[in-house]
Amino acid sequence: MFKLFLGLIDLAPQPMLKVETLGLRFRNPLILAAGILGLTAPILRRVVESGAGGVVTKSIGLKPRKGYPNPTVVDLGFGFLNSMGLPNPGLEKFMKELETLRDLEAPIILSIYAFSEDELVEIGRAVSGLDVISAVELNISCPHVDGISEIAKDPILVKSYVKTLKRHVDKPVIVKLSPNVSDIVRIAEAAVDGGADALTAINTVRAMSIDVEVGRPVLAGVFGGLSGPAIRPIAVRCVYEITESLDIPVFGCGGVETARDVIEFLMAGATAVQLGSAIARGGLRIFKKILKGLRSFLEEKGYNSIDDIRGLAHRR
Ligand code: SIN
Repeated sequence: MFKLFLGLIDLAPQPMLKVETLGLRFRNPLILAAGILGLTAPILRRVVESGAGGVVTKSIGLKPRKGYPNPTVVDLGFGFLNSMGLPNPGLEKFMKELETLRDLEAPIILSIYAFSEDELVEIGRAVSGLDVISAVELNISCPHVDGISEIAKDPILVKSYVKTLKRHVDKPVIVKLSPNVSDIVRIAEAAVDGGADALTAINTVRAMSIDVEVGRPVLAGVFGGLSGPAIRPIAVRCVYEITESLDIPVFGCGGVETARDVIEFLMAGATAVQLGSAIARGGLRIFKKILKGLRSFLEEKGYNSIDDIRGLAHRR
């Protein structure tokens, strides 16, 4: 009898966490955000082994780039302020790195940036046919690199950049939006007009910090981007505003640290979420911890899958 009872428990269906979007299958909604750990193949592999449903690489440009001098990152306690300056090995070298990840059991999203549409054409062509990459995320929103930060603020440029990339790449295009604009829905619409398949909301919030002992900005680059829990309510608001107006998958990004944070983004309308600062602070064990919390929440409330809670806040 006891055995039979245990058998019944085993058969109880677990709430489903998988996400199907852009023709891709993510085994759960937790995706590594661009910029954190995404620069080498072994680390991307470890992120997936730790439970991530997918990974976004560090932003890669056509040419290698050194980034800014130190200090480039400061931990403010309530979030990180970074001004890395988009350091990366360049597309050609990085593509060789990704080639070793063919067997990875999670979609790889390549984050890219370009200083001109001509560069975008070259990147799009180089990446096409490379089936280790499932999608590209176009970073038009780094808030502290001249030539990039301006794109996200101008709907005409956004549409044009996205249209150009779409014409030259054979993969879904996700556009990463900036919160540093007066109307994020207008920018999201421009991206959709250009042919974006999905959006990520949000990149970091432009910010600065001053060392009062010496009376100088802390970051060598003066301005940086704030990430972490401090920006979560801004990110949730952006996801909500976009999904209230537009029917397009949105990856929520900004300060996700717990299962409840993931649920909040999903209820705001996010298709899945991206995690960055929380990994820098809490390590890779955070994926399994959040997944456990997510399952418990769904079970306790009687939901069968994360699809049941997606966009719930819009139906209030
Ligand atoms: C960086 O590498 O400079 C950060 C990337 C970003 O803020 O988009």
